[in-house]
Amino acid sequence: MTMNSPRIGIYGVSTQSGRAFFADFLAKGLTVYGYARPTEHGCEAVKTFADSGGIYLERPPNNIGEESRFISMGASKVGHDLEELIAFSDIIFLPHPSQHLEETAQLLKDSGLLSRPVPLVLTPPRTLASPYLWRILGEGYPLISFATSPYSAKSIDEGVYIKRRKRSWMASLEGRVSGEEQALIASLFPQALFSHIPATTSLGNLGAVFHPGGYLLNYDAIMKRQREGGTYSFYMEGIAARSEVGEKLEEIDQMRLRIAHRLGTPVFGLREDPREEEWRAMMEKLGRAEEDIADEDISSLRETRHEYLQVIYNAVVSAQHWLDYSYGVARIPGEGLSSAIRRTPTYQKRSTPQQRYLDEDIPTGLVPLEALARRLDIDCRAVTEVLDLYGEKMNSDPRSQGRNLEPFSTDYLVRHLQGSPEDAPSSERTDS
Ligand SMILES: NC(=O)c1ccc[n+]([C@@H]2O[C@H](COP(=O)([O-])OP(=O)(O)OC[C@H]3O[C@@H](n4cnc5c(N)ncnc54)[C@H](OP(=O)(O)O)[C@@H]3O)[C@@H](O)[C@H]2O)c1
Repeated sequence: MTMNSPRIGIYGVSTQSGRAFFADFLAKGLTVYGYARPTEHGCEAVKTFADSGGIYLERPPNNIGEESRFISMGASKVGHDLEELIAFSDIIFLPHPSQHLEETAQLLKDSGLLSRPVPLVLTPPRTLASPYLWRILGEGYPLISFATSPYSAKSIDEGVYIKRRKRSWMASLEGRVSGEEQALIASLFPQALFSHIPATTSLGNLGAVFHPGGYLLNYDAIMKRQREGGTYSFYMEGIAARSEVGEKLEEIDQMRLRIAHRLGTPVFGLREDPREEEWRAMMEKLGRAEEDIADEDISSLRETRHEYLQVIYNAVVSAQHWLDYSYGVARIPGEGLSSAIRRTPTYQKRSTPQQRYLDEDIPTGLVPLEALARRLDIDCRAVTEVLDLYGEKMNSDPRSQGRNLEPFSTDYLVRHLQGSPEDAPSSERTDS
């Protein structure tokens, strides 16, 4: 691998977040092979980027003065050749919905990936993707799991609109990720908080908490609004204004935290042991340190967040605590989820219910979380209720298709999720 000028592969340059990765890598002067599936949509995207010689990046007004602009491809390429993607890349990003990850792994394997085993970045994997991918690629194949997409991004005609970049997110290193590969990914994304504990991302799956329950518990109202041609505000109308929905989602969230607690992973916001004082002290310290740094000094702000958020690198936190460190919605001890969502500026803007909240978050989120809770004898009634509701509305059994964990023993799953907390990758991190 050439660390000075790493070559980046993207499997899915036509997806919304794939375009955002592509634009950002080109803007950094990196050389990229952007692969798109040869679908009508994928071909259109490749043709657009190849014909114009780059991608248009649109940004809203922002406090770092980043402007909307066209970014040239230079020596980078886009295309539909999987063998070229593999031969070219030092690392491959998979920015597409996670229910397709196994299919992608199989296609990459069929095109020769195992003869050049470059690490794959799952962005995001949702819950327990790695054991499924290792059945295809071999146990321990190097995988880097981003708990969430770094972007809030939408496709536009000539490129991508990046509405927001996330300030920090968990990333777990799973399987045989070398120090050099880790340093590469840390240099590309200094915002990521690394650990060797898959539970931090697998159980840090907030999409599973918010999306399917928020959608299905408001299903009739969402459908009615669609029929009327109006827009339903997913977070404001569906969760903030309906405390009974917020309470149900909190039950799902608490189940997620109880699983983490049972595995011995540090947890913040568990009802039985919330650790609110520790959290408040950590966030106050971070706030004081950030006050002394200018808004546009992004690299100092990142350094500071890394330093002060060390404690949560290896932890799983409640939805409200996540809103605090991700979006700056300061935690109020005891505050319910509906109220915390009401205070979240990004959710106050337009937030429409999306089909992926069911298509992706049911098979890769609630199905494995319910299966895991059952294995560990943890109360999962709130999740079961939402999955049963899905079965009723869609007339299909979600557990027969999703990651129901049937191929794996409980012992294997527990060992995998616990990972190796003794490895401290954050200290090896190199910022760009
Ligand atoms: N976009 C965001 O703002 C955002 C925010 C948070 C999280 N995320 C997460 O990031 C991931 C990607 O999201 P996204 O918005 O970038 O996705 P997306 O563009 O909405 O995903 C749809 C695209 O997935 C591709 N696709 C369909 N079937 C596929 C398959 N079998 N294998 C591979 N690709 C397939 C299709 O592209 P082609 O037909 O062109 O191949 C399609 O255009 C998801 O997990 C999402 O939940 C996204």
